Amino acid sequence: MMDKIRIAIFASGNGSNAQNIAEHFAGNSSVDICRIFSNKADAFVLKRADNLNIPSFVFTKKQMNESEIVLNQLIADKTDFIVLAGFLLKIPANILEKFPYKIINIHPALLPKYGGKGMYGMRVHEAVKASGDIESGITIHYVNAAYDEGNVIFQAMIPVEKSDTAEDIANKVHGLEYEHFPKVIEQIISGAF
Ligand code: GRF
Repeated sequence: MMDKIRIAIFASGNGSNAQNIAEHFAGNSSVDICRIFSNKADAFVLKRADNLNIPSFVFTKKQMNESEIVLNQLIADKTDFIVLAGFLLKIPANILEKFPYKIINIHPALLPKYGGKGMYGMRVHEAVKASGDIESGITIHYVNAAYDEGNVIFQAMIPVEKSDTAEDIANKVHGLEYEHFPKVIEQIISGAF
């Protein structure tokens, strides 16, 4: 019997992608979402974890960057793969080194545009709207020491209409996230990428 692939999800806020991913794999006997990590004790993603019966682990930015407790928990969980789904902190070197090409992130724009420090949530969609760009989308990429600069794995696009508000763009981009992120994760862990 093959061991299950054990995936940890990191999220800082709402967690709709984390829930979507967990529900996608709920019926997959070879994958286990083993824990949801958050740097915000009041993040709604933790309520979603409880409702999904997924263990969680809360830590502070200082603990992640100045101690081994997050890395030790990942190791104790026998984590195979790490998914960042709305996680707003950089991943420290000790975790990057332990999980080479095993950490991916989703960004709600077509990187390299609208990425980097401070570009998250509605700020991204407001920037797209202000730019007059006629398309936006998602980027799924490997994580390295910089924000949003790892090798791109997958991108999907949506048209941006002149009449679209930043909220309209956000809703269309979220639709892409929910449609594609779980499937791309499945492809990556099966070695397709
Ligand atoms: C998503 O738009 C994702 O692309 C970005 O952060 C947002 C997280 O939303 N990285 P949620 O917490 O999954 O609802």
